[in-house]
Amino acid sequence: MMAKCLGKFIYNLEPVKKHKTFFYHTLSNTIASLFIFKNECMSSFQIIVGSMLGGTEYVGEACEETLTELGHNVEIHLKPNLKMILESTFSENSDGKSSDNLLKNNIWLICTSTHGAGDYPDNIKQFVSDLDHCSQDLSTVNFLTIGIGDSSYDTYCKAAKSITKLLKTKGCNEIAAIKAFDMSLDIDPEDLACQWLLVNKDLL
Ligand SMILES: Cc1cc2nc3c(=O)[nH]c(=O)nc-3n(C[C@H](O)[C@H](O)[C@H](O)COP(=O)(O)O)c2cc1C
Repeated sequence: MMAKCLGKFIYNLEPVKKHKTFFYHTLSNTIASLFIFKNECMSSFQIIVGSMLGGTEYVGEACEETLTELGHNVEIHLKPNLKMILESTFSENSDGKSSDNLLKNNIWLICTSTHGAGDYPDNIKQFVSDLDHCSQDLSTVNFLTIGIGDSSYDTYCKAAKSITKLLKTKGCNEIAAIKAFDMSLDIDPEDLACQWLLVNKDLL
């Protein structure tokens, strides 16, 4: 809509001379196409957060901000519920057609820490169990995983690695290799996670 208006506005600057009309027409079409291309490239993100002490929630929220700034549709799930996430992923348009029929690019971004001895944080355990038992076709779901952990544990980022494996067995497509952040180092995981998304923005 915005693209059409802008295109029309520029076209309405129609000069008297014919070649200039052609120039403005071409320019308006190019700008309109760029807007349409951008809209078509926008992805729909479900950010799924696993966190025990809250640190990974901040990482998820920072990613939400970055992805929104990149023009994507983003929903964040701090208490992930598979049913709700599937509903958002395979939501229907007003014409009743499933969005994935219209090539909506669905991406799940998993941000999870690891606790216990390689365990999932409590808030994501039910999601993982439901996913494990899920028989729905998830082959149109793309995903990325960010793991937050501490390399002094033998089970460094095990939860992030395990959920990555599980998603692959469910047919989901991993669009970039898992990114792990080691909290035993003096790092800012929020900043690094956003930088990583920006570096990979062409994959999203
Ligand atoms: C009791 C406890 C157990 C942990 N176990 C692991 C582990 O097995 N593997 C790992 O990589 N990190 C482990 N960690 C480190 C946490 O993943 C890390 O501190 C992380 O930043 C916590 O994120 P959160 O605030 O989102 O829960 C453990 C931390 C605690 C306190």
